Amino acid sequence: MPRTVYLETFGCQMNELDSELVSGRLRSLGYAFTPDRDAADVVLYNTCSVREHAEQKVWSRLGELKERKLSQPSLVVGVMGCLAERDGQDLIRRMPVVDILVGPGELDKLPSLLDNAVKTRESLLSEPEVTGGGEPLRSARQVALQGSASRRSATLAAAADSLEMLDLSRSISPTNVDEMSGRRSAYVRITRGCNKFCTYCVVPFTRGAEIHRPPDHILDECRRLADAGVIEVTLLGQTVNHYRFEHGAAVTVGGVVQPQKGRSYAGGHARDPFAGANVTTFADLLRRIHDEVPAIRRLRFVTSYPRDFGDDVLEVIRDHPRICRYLHVPAQSGSNRLLKLMNRGYEVEEYLEFLARARAHLHQPEIGRPLEVSGDFIVGFPTETDEDFEATVSLVERARYKNSFIFKYSPRPGTTAFDRLADDVPEAVKRVRNNRLLAVQAAISQERGLAYVGVEADVLIEGFSAKERKRRVREQGACGAGGTVELTVRGQGRGSACAIDEEVEATETGPAQFSARTDTDMIVLLDQPASRANELVGTIRRARITAASALTLTGELIG
Ligand code: SAH
Ligand code: SF4
Ligand code: F3S
Repeated sequence: MPRTVYLETFGCQMNELDSELVSGRLRSLGYAFTPDRDAADVVLYNTCSVREHAEQKVWSRLGELKERKLSQPSLVVGVMGCLAERDGQDLIRRMPVVDILVGPGELDKLPSLLDNAVKTRESLLSEPEVTGGGEPLRSARQVALQGSASRRSATLAAAADSLEMLDLSRSISPTNVDEMSGRRSAYVRITRGCNKFCTYCVVPFTRGAEIHRPPDHILDECRRLADAGVIEVTLLGQTVNHYRFEHGAAVTVGGVVQPQKGRSYAGGHARDPFAGANVTTFADLLRRIHDEVPAIRRLRFVTSYPRDFGDDVLEVIRDHPRICRYLHVPAQSGSNRLLKLMNRGYEVEEYLEFLARARAHLHQPEIGRPLEVSGDFIVGFPTETDEDFEATVSLVERARYKNSFIFKYSPRPGTTAFDRLADDVPEAVKRVRNNRLLAVQAAISQERGLAYVGVEADVLIEGFSAKERKRRVREQGACGAGGTVELTVRGQGRGSACAIDEEVEATETGPAQFSARTDTDMIVLLDQPASRANELVGTIRRARITAASALTLTGELIG
């Protein structure tokens, strides 16, 4: 019997990609997907653990399923991702509604765990003598978890092998073109995990050690995505610029070249002296994708670590027009004392030196090629004084980001900061600092935006704007059906499932607001007739910028 799955994704782009890969696998095994949670036989949450707030969202979703499970015992509930990994068996103790637990390093196991859980529940529920007393529910859960527990103790090589197959399955799947049809933008993982162990961060614990994928696999994936119509690829890694693959050291298992455990060249901004025939550096990888897959018209990458960002990478970006001039380089704090406590491994001066070097190479507004940079900051890290915070304000003022992601420190069990440092900045102080930094950044964002007014730029039209999507959902009820055009080029995982599946009739008249992006990652809002959605979404067009606010630019199409 075909199973219907509802999948909701929280957290970062890694999770969005994982959800996409897992759903591709499940579709190929005969599962169907629905945006309606109440209509699904299987409910999956791909979770994030980076801040407490991210976890709370999942707890409340799971809480909502309690009653439904009582009335529909065949319902299968799975928790994937970083919360599953961080909380482990405790999660099941707290939320007995959960049948399946799969960490991000175990996702290749999900299809078999799901199959086990579905079958076990069915067989237990069909035996009247064991359906009383709730016992069968627990049995079903244990069967599903057994695999997950054993997988966790697997060796790195085995883990890397089957996980690598999950990413590869996208590129070798014959249904790839169908699955990707209508998609114009895709993520491609180049590095898994993280070795940095910033003291506040769960990622090294949930995603494991830094592992680099073989360049040929990455190229192959890019090529196949391009064949399926993708024109924008975003390369993903927690420290994406650390990418480095040593060919001499490559091992093949079952015909598949193995990813490599992280070994980055920590040589500051000099060129990697060991680069050459046997090593593919991040700069080499960017150059190869640019040159070998020209159908990819925009090549992006996130997230960059402020150290170990060589001039070789900056030169490749400068000299290859389809590589986007946008860097996301989190600083986290402007206080050297806090950067040390955070174990970030650089000081403010080094960070600013990097920004200056990046701008010297890449900021060329006079030839229509500016560079934009965005940052991340944590306010209220343990022991943060007013003076430390003022140093952060000063860094934001000097760095001139186009935008910053600002977070209040959230203590995470299992991290060094959680164990060693009291969360001693009161919530009210965190809030004040958060708002102040947002306001400082907003003024700078507006200034940067104003520099675009009157400028012509190529923009990739991604779909209806968030405001337009809300308006359409409000006016037309739930997801529109029928039509021909997907409203977003990114597909699964962005915004609500409803917005993604919504479609528009090509005959629809009246104005609509579209959202587009410059190659510097500035959002541009464009008013166009809704009936042009078919023709516009997923294409790169020339626009003139007419106005700027702190959050977005407004523009008009020209030509
Ligand atoms: N790998 C990326 C960031 C991954 S997590 C990097 O190092 O730059 C995304 C962002 O979440 C981080 O940049 C940080 O600003 C924030 N973050 C991580 N852990 C946090 C915590 N415990 N409390 C608050 N914010 C946190
Ligand atoms: Fe977390 Fe630091 Fe790794 Fe980023 S670099 S994922 S903040 S440990
Ligand atoms: Fe969250 Fe895990 Fe990404 S903790 S930010 S989903 S790596």
